[in-house]
This record gives sequence, structure tokens and C-alpha cells, in this order.
Amino acid sequence: YAQNTATLTVSNNSKDTISRNIYGQFAEHLGRGIYGGFWVDKTLPVAKQDRIRLDVVNALKKIKIPNLRWPGGCFADEYHWRDGIGPRPQRPKMINTNWGGVVEDNSFGTHEFLELCQLLGCEPYISANVGSGTVQEMSNWVEYLNFDGESPLTNLRTQNGHPKPFNVHFWGVGNESWGCGGNMTPEHYSDEYRRYASFAKNYNNAKLKKIACGPNASDYNWTETCMKNIGPGRMWGLSLHYYTLPTGNWSDKGSSTNFGEAAYFNTMKNCLQMEELVTKHSAIMDKYDPQKKVALVVDEWGVWTNVMPGTNPGFLFQQNSLRDALVAATTLNIFNNHCDRVKMAALAQCINVLQALIITDKEKMLLTPTYYVFDMYKVHQDARYLPVKLNAPEYEYEGKKILAVNVTASQDAAGKVHLTLANLDAHNTIAVSTEFKDIAWQAVTGRVLTSAKVDDINTFEKPYTLIPKTFTGARKEGDKLVINMPAKAVVELELN
Ligand code: AHR
Repeated sequence: YAQNTATLTVSNNSKDTISRNIYGQFAEHLGRGIYGGFWVDKTLPVAKQDRIRLDVVNALKKIKIPNLRWPGGCFADEYHWRDGIGPRPQRPKMINTNWGGVVEDNSFGTHEFLELCQLLGCEPYISANVGSGTVQEMSNWVEYLNFDGESPLTNLRTQNGHPKPFNVHFWGVGNESWGCGGNMTPEHYSDEYRRYASFAKNYNNAKLKKIACGPNASDYNWTETCMKNIGPGRMWGLSLHYYTLPTGNWSDKGSSTNFGEAAYFNTMKNCLQMEELVTKHSAIMDKYDPQKKVALVVDEWGVWTNVMPGTNPGFLFQQNSLRDALVAATTLNIFNNHCDRVKMAALAQCINVLQALIITDKEKMLLTPTYYVFDMYKVHQDARYLPVKLNAPEYEYEGKKILAVNVTASQDAAGKVHLTLANLDAHNTIAVSTEFKDIAWQAVTGRVLTSAKVDDINTFEKPYTLIPKTFTGARKEGDKLVINMPAKAVVELELN
């Protein structure tokens, strides 16, 4: 195979910040995401606070997850928050109709979620029920969480052990209201949003950042209608959901393990669709909000494959390979490069569900290749965005082509410049000759994540197949930086 070349120019002429909230996570009452993921049985022999698993918390703290979205997903629109407060044995049970029809015992509710966020040091992002809830129910939840005075609801909060307000800011008004959240038209949803949002009040120290339910993938009419009918002044953000399906076909999405190059190539091609989606939805938002005050919040993204054989189809459990790492790296590069509009995102989902950061099996815990990408990319959180110009070769497979390389550059508060690059080409190495405009640097260090095969995975038996290693393929040549990108690899560089 050949060594191809690319050229990259990094400039210093942007004031935009890459919001740390782009690195957000999602934890739904789905499969083993909450129960058996974050929230475990009292008898499980792992360190816990209450029933929250601390090895998981510590792993997530290391990669600085900035926010956690909860309780769904589709589950959010059948969740009634009052069932999840008060003494646990007295909490009513319900059926999780979306995810396997299992019994939900409501032992993990509002207080438990906010305790988890506190342990993680991250901001809560609550997705509230519009589909089967009421305006009053949502309004009461906000008061229960955020009111700092005395009221029957805050007395109840005190009785449940939390006299102080929780001060939750990120507030989702419905989830996928075009689908599992109520099958609404964008016109109807816009009216519902206005009504629900009117009664979700701002209390002292807790101004809500309300996030309207946005489009499914390329439903540009949804974006247009919501921007027009809700209006930019009434929302902090508009969500977007897009999943990368290896086959592009919901009835047979493809396997998460033992796939060949064809499935890999298609997955990367489908992943790169995110660039077009973000660009086109942003252009519509620009018409109504030219100052870019409304955030595009991509609060569900990631690879969605068939479930692992023998597991409950409603639990959405899949493995995580080098391919997932390349999808994560590429998607995060896309978001970073659109940080003027994309100010928040959430990978679906954090533990044991879809493209997870962490997989657990009873007391065992495994960090996935995707986890390591978030570890490598954490350097961009709240850093100043540095615009890039890239001329890269294409990766060709059976006559179809995609751009082989993608990249982000940023400068942190200490002045350090970081680059993250992905080479999607399964075979060819690529020498990226990089020029910096008005950026001085002397030395480069880095890490690389790669493996022999695109479908290599970490397992409980071999947990370190995919783990970042020291990268020695970057060198200074005059004023230029030459980066020898290995095939199918993610690289993170720090310039001092
Ligand atoms: O993440 C799994 C599901 O995907 C979510 O519950 C829903 O919002 C989306 O369709």
C-alpha cells in the first residue's frame, strides 16, 4: 500500500470556543444503561456510593464528561418524575414499554440522578415528558428541582433529603416528538413547545436552557418550522438526532463485530453524513438566528448496529471496535469544526447501550475504544477553535470514495495547541504536511489509537487491544509539522 500525502493549514483567526458540552453523554432507562450500568445491586462486590458504581464514575471523571442527559430517549416521554422520588420501597413500578417491556422499579429517580451528576462533576441535562405528561407535571418538576423558596414541592424535596435547590439548567422539552415522543407534526410540536416552555419557570440561580426537540436526521422541514414557529428567542437550543448505521437499513443494521472492509467503508461513509446534516440545519437556523444564539444540540449520535447475538433485542447492547473509535473521532472533529453552532452533543449511550464508553458485566468493567477517543479529545474542551484547511486524499473502496482524513485544531487557556486527526483509510498511511499561521511552537508529543484490524475490540479477557500509545510519527521540518498518520488511526498531538 502507498504512502499518500495531505496538506493542512492551521490559522489563528477565530474567537470561537469549542464548548466542553460537545463531549456530553446520554444515559437512558434502557437495557443495562442505568440498571446494571450506573446503578447496581446492593450486593455487587464493587465500590459504591449508595448503589452508584464508583469505578464507572471514576473512569468517566478521567475523561471529564461535561453533562449527562437523562432519563431518555423514548423513555423520557413515558416517565413520570413523581414515581421516582420518596422512599424507594414505596415507589410505584411501571413497564418500560419502549425497551424490552421490562419492569422499571423507579429506584433510580431524580435524587439518584442528581447525586450521580454530582459525583461525576458534570451538569445534568433533563429531558422532560411532553408526549404523555402534562404541562403542570413539567412545571412542578422544575419547581421541585430549582425553586429556592418555600412551597409544598420544596418542602417535599426537603423531606426527601435535599433542602437546597438542585439548580438544573439544561432542560429538554420532549424527545423525538416526531416519533416515539408523540408522532407530532412540527407545527403541532411548535405549539406544544411554546405551551410547555411557558410554564417551565426560571428560578433564582437556575435560568433554564430550554432545548426544543429538533429534527430526525435530514428532516429540514422540522428545523425550518420550529425555528419559524417557536422562534429563536424562546429556546436555548434545538436538538438533532442522527445515528450511523453500518448498512443504512434499520431492519438489519449490520454486526458490531467480525465485519469486513465493505461494512467498515459504508459505516464511515454514513458517519460523514453528519457534516452535511450539521451544515444544512445550521444554514436554516442562520436564516432565523443569524447571530447564532440558538445552539444546535446533537444529543443523540453514534453507531447503531444489530444487538450482540443472544442478548435482549430491546436492550440495544453492541460491541465497540476500532471502527467505533474512528466514528467517534470523525464525528467529534465535525462538531468541533462547527462549534459556532454546535454547542452541545451527547453520545448514545454512556454504558452498555449502543456505542458505549463503558461495558460492564457484573463486577467487571471494560473501557471501549470510544472511551479512549473521548480521553484523547478532552484537550479541546473549552479551548479556542483554530480554523483548518485540509487537502487530503480520498479513501476508495469498490469505486466509492470518501475523504480519508479529518482534523480539529484548538488552543487551550495555557497556550498549548492540540490537533486531533483521524485517518479513515484502512490501508494507506498519509503524511500530513502542516503549516501554522501566527502560531509559534517548538516541540510535539502525541498519542495514537489503532489496531491491526478495523473490527478489533477490547474484551474482558484482553482489555488493552485498543488503548492509546505514544505516537512518534510527528516531526518538525523547518517551520512545518509532518504527521505520518498510520492507516485506520486516531492521533492526538500537543504542540509546545
Ligand atoms: O438511544 C436509543 C433511542 O434512540 C432513544 O431512546 C431515542 O430517542 C432514539 O430513537
